[in-house]
Amino acid sequence: MSTWNPTNLPRQNARTFVVTGGGAGIGYFIAEQLASTGAEVIIAARSEERASRALETLSARDPHAKLGFIRLDLADPGSIESAAAEIAALTRVDGLILNAGLKPQTEHLTSVAGDELVFGTNQLGNFALIARTLPVLERTPGSRLVTMGSLGYTLAKLDPADVGHAGQPYRSLPFYTASKYAQMLTAFELDRRLRAAGSSTVSVIAHPGVAMDQLAPDRRPALPYVPWPAPRAIPARLFSQGKDAGAWPAVRAALDPRVNGGEMWGPRFLSSRGAPVRERLPRKLRTRDLAREIWDLSVSRTGLEPLTHGSSR
Ligand SMILES: NC(=O)c1ccc[n+]([C@@H]2O[C@H](COP(=O)([O-])OP(=O)(O)OC[C@H]3O[C@@H](n4cnc5c(N)ncnc54)[C@H](OP(=O)(O)O)[C@@H]3O)[C@@H](O)[C@H]2O)c1
Repeated sequence: MSTWNPTNLPRQNARTFVVTGGGAGIGYFIAEQLASTGAEVIIAARSEERASRALETLSARDPHAKLGFIRLDLADPGSIESAAAEIAALTRVDGLILNAGLKPQTEHLTSVAGDELVFGTNQLGNFALIARTLPVLERTPGSRLVTMGSLGYTLAKLDPADVGHAGQPYRSLPFYTASKYAQMLTAFELDRRLRAAGSSTVSVIAHPGVAMDQLAPDRRPALPYVPWPAPRAIPARLFSQGKDAGAWPAVRAALDPRVNGGEMWGPRFLSSRGAPVRERLPRKLRTRDLAREIWDLSVSRTGLEPLTHGSSR
């Protein structure tokens, strides 16, 4: 595992990757790193303005980069459907990097479908996108779905019978941690189903550790953050890293031939920063019953189910 160099990636000519949320943050750096391999990179993002700044920045860094844009709002089932149709029109999809995610919000908002916005975007939106794009991914042998997890799962309380935390005053953080945990359990459940169906597509989890905009290199106009000066950045780097390094586990999960389905990749040092490595799965992530319950809940909320090749509808 030590031979992987995140700053000298293997060439990926003629391969295509779709990166959700690639217009900002970690997603921008995933797109940048994948584009540096010669692969075609499609940014699927909600904000067209931010995505076009990202594309401008990527093109300025490499005028030969093969880039594209698909509009995707994970809080809107109609947008997911049309984004999936655009993804289906691509000749091949070697990897779908499910990076886009909504952080905890200050207000109690809902998705277009009426679900709490953070859970509705992160779990239900991504679930619907997986359901709508899985047949497309399975067309490309060896394709990968990379789900962006979070250490926040360790704090999550996830009750499939009460994902709305009924009767409690609204706080967004529990919805965020539950949504990331649900995404991770879904990714494992998906991989089990892919393996059972004999599919060559795999589902893998990556997480960025603790990744901050202000510790990342300057990428204007895409990322208008002023990097922290050394007296602030050096102590912050003890337990966190820039979003450029936060992208490394997802990029390795997408590219390294040694990655297998059902694995989790994250930063080496305290799972918070450093080189991307395969991580041990704690019991909380190995719970199959809860994963199936979250899967069933997501099917009933979205009206969609990811069906593997050979499954009948
Ligand atoms: N940073 C960390 O330390 C950390 C730790 C653990 C996990 N993560 C996970 O890593 C991922 C990226 O985090 P980040 O720190 O880079 O966050 P960020 O800077 O807030 O970027 C989030 C991205 O998600 C997109 N997004 C949000 N809502 C969306 C929606 N409804 N439809 C489509 N795209 C949407 C945003 O798109 P727009 O630009 O269009 O709004 C943006 O590109 C997230 O899944 C997050 O949960 C991050």
